[in-house]
Amino acid sequence: MIEFRNLWKNYDDNVVLENLSAQVGSGEFITLVGTSGCGKSTFLKLLLGTEVTSRGSILLDGRPIADEPGPDRGIVFQKYSVFPHLTVRENVALGREFECGPIFGRVFGSARKAILAEADHWLESVGLTPARHRYPHELSGGMQQRLAIAQALIKQPRLLLLDEPFGALDPGIRKDMHQLVLSLWGQHKLTVFMVTHDLSEGFYLGTRLWVFDKCRMDPQAPERFGSTITFDLPVGKTDRQSLDKIKESLARSAQIPVAV
Ligand SMILES: Nc1ncnc2c1ncn2[C@@H]1O[C@H](COP(=O)(O)OP(=O)(O)O)[C@@H](O)[C@H]1O
Ligand SMILES: [Mg+2]
Repeated sequence: MIEFRNLWKNYDDNVVLENLSAQVGSGEFITLVGTSGCGKSTFLKLLLGTEVTSRGSILLDGRPIADEPGPDRGIVFQKYSVFPHLTVRENVALGREFECGPIFGRVFGSARKAILAEADHWLESVGLTPARHRYPHELSGGMQQRLAIAQALIKQPRLLLLDEPFGALDPGIRKDMHQLVLSLWGQHKLTVFMVTHDLSEGFYLGTRLWVFDKCRMDPQAPERFGSTITFDLPVGKTDRQSLDKIKESLARSAQIPVAV
């Protein structure tokens, strides 16, 4: 479904991603780990279409991916964006209203009713029905992430991109969110890319785990070389030895000064 072909991304002299190639099938759940600053968020932005590759290409069903965000791709960040003066339900509906409404995203009458019904459907599926008339600031951290997921899913994307979505949540809440994501992934046949800094979360949720790291390193000029996929592991078939190797490589690259 998706192919990364010799992908490079740099910001001026800062090479972030270097010669990254991979193929991903429909319905896979890829989890991405790597030290801070190694290019994980940049990689998701390339997939989302808010950033463009410097060299190489990303193909979706064999065609170059549109270089602007489209409804086929949804994203959930750790810090999410909502309109504070709109209710939970209105915030979810807004994503569809922007698609349908010709002027300022406003939709009226029966079209608006249909969109609100859709919003209710997605709020139900993420467990937010009781909170749908509340305002964002009245939600707990876990509920805010549920809202962010509903906002992404109402566009019915095939690709769901998650950038450390549960990093700020308490362990108990995080477990609930894991179950939610796994069930949505199964129900809606999503292809998921999820960045996490928690290796065990990566192994638990993913069908495939990628480690991003630099293959080459210039201590005098850390920006000179970029990261690529250094481990690509089918989850479940990973032995103790490769797990230790990953931990070693993560610990090693954490020592590398990362340019900001
Ligand atoms: N818009 C941008 N302009 C310039 N440099 C950027 C931009 N976005 C990210 N970077 C740089 O790219 C590198 C990777 O950042 P990022 O993808 O956010 O890392 P990660 O998500 O793995 O922590 C960092 O060196 C960061 O400073
Ligand atoms: Mg990041």
